Amino acid sequence: MLPLKISKLQVKNFRNLDEEIIEFSNGINCIFGENGNGKTNILEALYFLIKRKSFRKNASFPQILGIDGENTEISFQSLFTDEDTSEAYTYSGKLNENGHAWFYQGKSTSKKLEIGIVFISPFDSQGFHLSSSQRRTWIDDHLGQLDKEYKKALSRFTKSLRFRNKLLSQKPSQFQKQINAIDEEMADNSIFLTQKRLAFLEDLRPFVRESFKNLFSTEHDLEIMLDTKITNMNRDFYLDMCQRNREKDIIIGHTSYGIHKDDYVLLFDGLNSFDYCSLGQQKMSYLSLLFAYIELFRYKFNSFPIVLLDDVSGELDKLRWRRLVEYLKNKNFQVLITTANDSFKEVLDTIESANKLLVSSGIVQKV
Ligand SMILES: Nc1ncnc2c1ncn2[C@@H]1O[C@H](COP(=O)(O)OP(=O)(O)OP(=O)(O)O)[C@@H](O)[C@H]1O
Ligand SMILES: [Mg+2]
Repeated sequence: MLPLKISKLQVKNFRNLDEEIIEFSNGINCIFGENGNGKTNILEALYFLIKRKSFRKNASFPQILGIDGENTEISFQSLFTDEDTSEAYTYSGKLNENGHAWFYQGKSTSKKLEIGIVFISPFDSQGFHLSSSQRRTWIDDHLGQLDKEYKKALSRFTKSLRFRNKLLSQKPSQFQKQINAIDEEMADNSIFLTQKRLAFLEDLRPFVRESFKNLFSTEHDLEIMLDTKITNMNRDFYLDMCQRNREKDIIIGHTSYGIHKDDYVLLFDGLNSFDYCSLGQQKMSYLSLLFAYIELFRYKFNSFPIVLLDDVSGELDKLRWRRLVEYLKNKNFQVLITTANDSFKEVLDTIESANKLLVSSGIVQKV
C-alpha cells in the first residue's frame, strides 16, 4: 500500500458537488453542513476515486452523474501527497455511460490506486449487530483487504458452494459423484479459510482491547470470537460431516454444513454484545473493532488507510464524542469526519489543528 494522503480533490458533475477544488489536511478534516447539502457526497467522491465504486447501494453511473446541466461526463482530478517524502502525485479519471479512464501522473492506467480507504457509515453498527451475514461480509471484506490469499481462497470456496447448491437444487441423486468431488475441493479451502480467520482474530484481539479502552472505557472489556462449524481442522472430519448432512442437504436443496455458516461474536465483558448491549454500547464496540482493524492495517502495511467517518455521532453521548475526538487527535491518520449534529460540531470545533469545511448546496468553503 502507498502511504499517500489526499491533498486536493476536484470533481465535475458528481452528484450535487460544485467544481471548486477541495483542500484537505493530512490529519483531521471536519465536514460540517446541514442535512442534504453534500457532506456524504464528498466522502463518496473520494471513495469512488480510490475504489472505482461507491459505498452506496444502487450507485452506478446514472445515479452519481449530477442531474443539473447538460453534461454527460463525470471527471475527477486529485493530488495525493506521500507522508514520508512529501512528494505529490496526480490521479485523475473520467466516466461516462460507455466506460471510464484513469490517469496516474498523467499516464493512462488500468490499475487502481494502492491506497487503503475505510468508510464508516452511521448504519453499519446496527447492521453488524443484527445480521450474521453482515458480520461475515465485514470480516471477509476486511480480512480480504489485508490478505490476497484469503480473498482468492474465498472466491474459490464461494464458486464451489454455488455449484454444490445448484446440483442439490436439481436432481442430486444423479450428481452424487460430482458432489463428492466438490466436497473434496471445499474441504481444503474450508480448513485454510478457518485458519486464516482464526489468525486474523488473534491479530485483531490486542488492538480491539486497546482501542476499546482508549476510546470508550477502561472499566469494560471487548473481545471478538469466531463461532465456527469447523471444530476440528481435519480433512476427514470435514468430509465426514458433509456426508452426515448429505441427506438433509438433498431435502432442503442447499448446503447446510460449512464455513458459510460461521459467525462472529463480540463479547462485552464476556457477554454477547448483540443480545446484551445498549445501542450506544453497540456503536462503541463496533467503532472499536473498526479502529482495531485500522491499527492492524498499519501494522501490516506500515501506513494507515484514509478513514471516512460519516456522521457516527448518533447514540453516543458527549463524553464518548470527546474520547473519540481525543483518540483521532492522538492518531496519525488522515480522517474525514462529517456531522450535521450541532453538539458534536461544538466538540469537533475545539480541535484547533483540524481543517474545517462547510458544505452548503454542494459548495465547499473553508471555515
Ligand atoms: N445525481 C445527483 N445529482 C445532483 N444532486 C444529487 C444527486 N444525487 C444526490 N443528490 C443530492 O445530494 C444531496 C445529498 O447529499 P449528501 O448525502 O451528501 O447529504 P449530507 O450533507 O450528507 O446530508 P445528511 O446530513 O442528511 O447526511 C441531496 O440534496 C440530493 O438531492
Ligand atoms: Mg450524509
